[in-house]
Amino acid sequence: MTEQVSYSGPQRIFSGIQPTGNLHLGNYLGALKKFADLQDAGWEGIYCVVDLHAITMPHAKGALADQTRQIAAAMMAAGLDPDTSTIFVQSSVRAHTELTWIFNCVARMGWLEKMTQFKDKSGKDSERASVGLFDYPVLQAADILVYKATHVPVGEDQKQHLELSRNIAARFNQQYDVPGFFPLPEGLIEGPGARIMSLKDGTKKMSKSDPAETSRINLIDDTDMIAKKIKKAKTDTLGDMPETMEEMAPRPEVANLVGIYAALAGMSDEQVLAEYGGKGFGTFKPALAELAVEKLSPITKKMREFLDDPAEIDAAMAKGAEKANAVAAPIIEEVRRVVGFWQV
Ligand code: TYM
Repeated sequence: MTEQVSYSGPQRIFSGIQPTGNLHLGNYLGALKKFADLQDAGWEGIYCVVDLHAITMPHAKGALADQTRQIAAAMMAAGLDPDTSTIFVQSSVRAHTELTWIFNCVARMGWLEKMTQFKDKSGKDSERASVGLFDYPVLQAADILVYKATHVPVGEDQKQHLELSRNIAARFNQQYDVPGFFPLPEGLIEGPGARIMSLKDGTKKMSKSDPAETSRINLIDDTDMIAKKIKKAKTDTLGDMPETMEEMAPRPEVANLVGIYAALAGMSDEQVLAEYGGKGFGTFKPALAELAVEKLSPITKKMREFLDDPAEIDAAMAKGAEKANAVAAPIIEEVRRVVGFWQV
């Protein structure tokens, strides 16, 4: 949907990460690294550990709080500063769930039925999936719009959910005759690292839920493990490293490793090929392993330090929740007036 009157409020970033499983290189390059870069570029940013999303799938009782702390630690270790940005836990700001209900009555069944992530996650037995899993993208729209966020840094897998957020925002504005009330949030997706693939299959994205541990590099992997996984990463039988982008096109596993190198080094794929094209994997893989260790180990180290002091994480999250609430509360009040609820 497009709009006649556009939003004219402040530009603001929102993004979230689920506290499920270990964070991997895809989460780092597709999200965490971007968050820190945007903060350093001066953007106002609100970053959230989305625990309400995590309960849409089966989860171990009692694991939620620890996993939440791990993501909070990873955000701070990757460079987000709780004094500059807002970092908090979703369930501690009630406005997310309130806006979700209102958006449930704006979003259309047909829109949600198109969501590929629901189809992937619910598998063949979608009748037994939770209603929450189906509704997940509506909660995601509420996350973003309860802060009237204009920009959303995410990996490519979130593109469809973002499109839905835009549709919900546009339909709300139209349905309640409040043109430009909600912004139509834009994804910040482009750039190296937007879609990191499995180390075992260059056509499948690197994912927390892949049963093969060797398919991903976890942020908590130690140096030896990182080197081992890269050494074992699948390549192909088409010879040495390609020299041009055309030569690389039919080689998804190799393209993925080159993309990872490029994203970690802050280079383009072409620059990586200029350096390594024609060389053997016996040269490239150890160089990639060394680079990955160089970039990731300081983050892993900081993450462990934060996790050794859970009180510090908890204090940062409490402060973050207060700051997030101060932004969301007046917006949800405005929404209540627009919808026409009884004013107390
Ligand atoms: P989640 O927790 O699955 O992933 C967190 C972030 O990591 C990115 N990502 C990747 N990027 C590149 N390559 C990969 N292989 C890869 N795998 C994951 C994701 O795109 C994401 O940016 N629904 C979201 C969480 C969410 C959210 C939001 C995001 C809830 N509300 C509002 C933005 C705004 C999710 O499940 O991300």
